[in-house]
Amino acid sequence: LDNFSVKNEPVLGYLKGSKERYELEEALKQISSSCEDVPIIVGDEEIRTKLVQHQVMPHNHSQKIAQYYHATPEVIKKAIKVAVAAQKTWENVPFQERFNIWQRAANLMATKYRMQLNAATMLGQSKNALQAEIDSAAELIDFFRFNAYNAKELLSYRPVSENPKVTLNSMRYRGMEGFVAAVSPFNFTAIGGNLAYTPALMGNSVLWKPSDTALLSNYIIFKIMKEAGLPSGIVNFVPADGPVFGDNTTSSKDLACINFTGSVVTFNHLWRQVGNNIDLYKSYPRLIGECGGKNYHFVHPSADVLNVVVNTIRSAFEYCGQKCSACSRMYVPESLWPKIKDGLLAIRNDLKVGDPTEYDTFMGAVIDAKAFQRLSGAIDRAGKTSGLKVVGGGTYDCSKGYFIQPTIVESKNPKDDIMVNELFGPVLAVYVYKDKDVNSTLELVGNSTPYALTGAIFGNDEEFLKKATVELKQTAGNFYINDKSTGSVVGQQPFGGARKSGTNDKAGGPHYVLRYASPISVKETF
Ligand code: ALA
Repeated sequence: LDNFSVKNEPVLGYLKGSKERYELEEALKQISSSCEDVPIIVGDEEIRTKLVQHQVMPHNHSQKIAQYYHATPEVIKKAIKVAVAAQKTWENVPFQERFNIWQRAANLMATKYRMQLNAATMLGQSKNALQAEIDSAAELIDFFRFNAYNAKELLSYRPVSENPKVTLNSMRYRGMEGFVAAVSPFNFTAIGGNLAYTPALMGNSVLWKPSDTALLSNYIIFKIMKEAGLPSGIVNFVPADGPVFGDNTTSSKDLACINFTGSVVTFNHLWRQVGNNIDLYKSYPRLIGECGGKNYHFVHPSADVLNVVVNTIRSAFEYCGQKCSACSRMYVPESLWPKIKDGLLAIRNDLKVGDPTEYDTFMGAVIDAKAFQRLSGAIDRAGKTSGLKVVGGGTYDCSKGYFIQPTIVESKNPKDDIMVNELFGPVLAVYVYKDKDVNSTLELVGNSTPYALTGAIFGNDEEFLKKATVELKQTAGNFYINDKSTGSVVGQQPFGGARKSGTNDKAGGPHYVLRYASPISVKETF
């Protein structure tokens, strides 16, 4: 497919004295000085249950930025009814009308609401200005624009008609009958927008369960779509307790699709529930998932040390390592380790961890108390119980915000817990191999974890790069050569992993939208 008519949204720099910096400051002031009341929205109705919740700032957890409500089973059942009814008319709305809504929404995100989206992402999800800009502005806008263009291309496909005056063949792209349950994560505001609204673009209706810890930014997207003209009932905003949402959606005969990004444990659980209920459904539900990763940087003795160091710092520690693509295990040859270690430590010791609204902050806080406990526990186990060498960082403090220092752990065993289990935080495990063992170490990359999301190799030896690219083929859905394992861009590096990292549907790619369509092949004879 040719994407010539759609371009990536430029990323703003927020330099001192710039207009955007001033506007962002205003939005930050506005959001941090109030606690927005966010209802559940089903059709046209605003619902507030007794299950009152709050979203807090991770870097200052005594401060609330939103009050919201968890849906009860009754509310979820009602939302299913509303969505199923709305889908029947929505899928007949001409695609051009839907396309126009998506373009309007992308333009609203790029202009009127850009700073609100960024400020909510910074305060609620602890991203710094640039990290928020890359997520809740650029990537979010790109998803809306690229998916709409890609869908248009798809719809223009014409099957062969040998004599169209006698027999005309066509493909039409319906929505899936029923409703889509979209469950989105906290770590990218853009993923929430993509999971909830791409199915809607393709003629489906949705129950959207946003992450509790990304509530406010996700609600802003919901309001933007309303302003852009999306009729009510197509996407229903249903914050809920995870298991309550899962149980009540997977037990509906009308479940058409689960659109999920989150943990392997939860996706496996949902998959089992769907399996157990299989006789119940009108159609086979489509299960689309993006789960975990234990992403690697593999360094060959021929690698450029500085390139390895700067890319590893960014991949492992940007946004506290809370990207599904973040590098969390590294394989380094003994001959390069002293230089790489010095380089990593020199930069690491200079990174500011703190308030994400300060422009020199590199890492904010991790998302919540649960993440803080998981990560501080893993650091303690590595340093104290397992006797591994914590070569940098290793400290944490949650008195004001959930702060974990960027931590580097040297491991003696490539199958250590810290080398194989996903931690989803700023903890980098390094296995130092003997240079002569480069080939056997390469084999470990694919054999040590159940994941295959992202991975990177570093080296200047052409033979090695060729061989590793072939050997590691099944170990990553996004593979990088002499570049970091993070930072895929919509339309440039379609994103998704295989094995236990997900169903590899490639968000941001040209065929992604097809996953939400139920094509009908029509033969018309005159
Ligand atoms: N698009 C994000 C990245 O590649 C997940 O880092």
